[in-house]
Amino acid sequence: MRTFLLFSVLFTLSQSASQTVSYELEVSKQAWRYSAAAYCVYEDLEKWDCGRACEETQGMLDVQMVRDADRDTFAYVGYDNSTGKIVIAFRGTNGAESTNWITNIKTDFDKYPNWLYPDAGVHSGFYTAYKGIADNLKQAVQRLRDKYDYPEIMVTGHSMGGALALLGVLDLRTDLSIPPENITFYTFGQPRVGGENFRDYVYFVIGQRYFRVIHEDDMVPHLPSIYFSFRHAGIEVWYTDQQDSEDYKICVNYPGRLESHDCSNQYSMPTGVDVHTRYMGVELSEMCKKTQAASAPTYRESIMNTAISYTIYIFKKFDSWGLF
Ligand SMILES: *[C@@H]1O[C@H](CO)[C@@H](O)[C@H](O)[C@H]1NC(C)=O
Ligand SMILES: *[C@@H]1O[C@H](CO)[C@@H](O)[C@H](O)[C@H]1NC(C)=O
Repeated sequence: MRTFLLFSVLFTLSQSASQTVSYELEVSKQAWRYSAAAYCVYEDLEKWDCGRACEETQGMLDVQMVRDADRDTFAYVGYDNSTGKIVIAFRGTNGAESTNWITNIKTDFDKYPNWLYPDAGVHSGFYTAYKGIADNLKQAVQRLRDKYDYPEIMVTGHSMGGALALLGVLDLRTDLSIPPENITFYTFGQPRVGGENFRDYVYFVIGQRYFRVIHEDDMVPHLPSIYFSFRHAGIEVWYTDQQDSEDYKICVNYPGRLESHDCSNQYSMPTGVDVHTRYMGVELSEMCKKTQAASAPTYRESIMNTAISYTIYIFKKFDSWGLF
């Protein structure tokens, strides 16, 4: 009986997760605006009057804030009346006021609770941040599902917000039983979230319906390093140009395998900082009339500090392994 139950749950989870969907530029541009809006002040988001990000995505109703002030985690949930979808967008690090996620990066893994890969490891900092809002998030989503008759859902986020978005998607699939074909999932400049087993679990649950958009040599998607056993899942959409051209390349990745080296992984030491806040020709700092905390330069500085401290950390680690 137990075996049967397990089998049927696994079957339901993997159902249609294997189907591939194609990358849609217009959807991606819209997702980038939703992701950018997550940095705007709450009062503006509630009225969906937050500046460019809101003007260019009109029709958002019932916007609800989900936050854990202690852990500096934030997402908003709303119903986009123009697309008929629920939108969930997670904010990345908040520059000045935040605990920088990288200081947390220590490469510690927590166990990611799931039935399939009991050993799956998830980045402890991201997971802790996510857990701070998980229950409220699911409640907010469920309220909108009840109100709008179970619509499809768009999930997105930039930087650390992309990492949180992935954890959110896994919960939507398991705890809210939302089928993969009802989820549209795009992240931007997203760091790695877990180890090998976690990656394979992600494939199992959401399959090839997960687009990881990366701008040129944006360094954040290369953190935490694969040398500390972190792995990405999902389809990489790599914008190949530092400037704003719309040229991109798709690299499909697979369970059990390292990420393709045909896209952004062809750089051994990606150092891009400016490209991290500019996707598809739209600069993050231009999207809110007022941001929650950090000004754009502060945000850049925090990424820059991140880069430096992380590099030092890696060198120390390698040094301690006697690699130099
Ligand atoms: C939602 O969109 C429909 C048209 O698609 C419109 O008739 C309706 O007024 C909109 N609802 C709100 C509350 O804006
Ligand atoms: C999935 O989306 C369809 C609309 O495309 C909707 O009718 C259905 O209820 C949704 N299912 C769930 C479980 O949300």
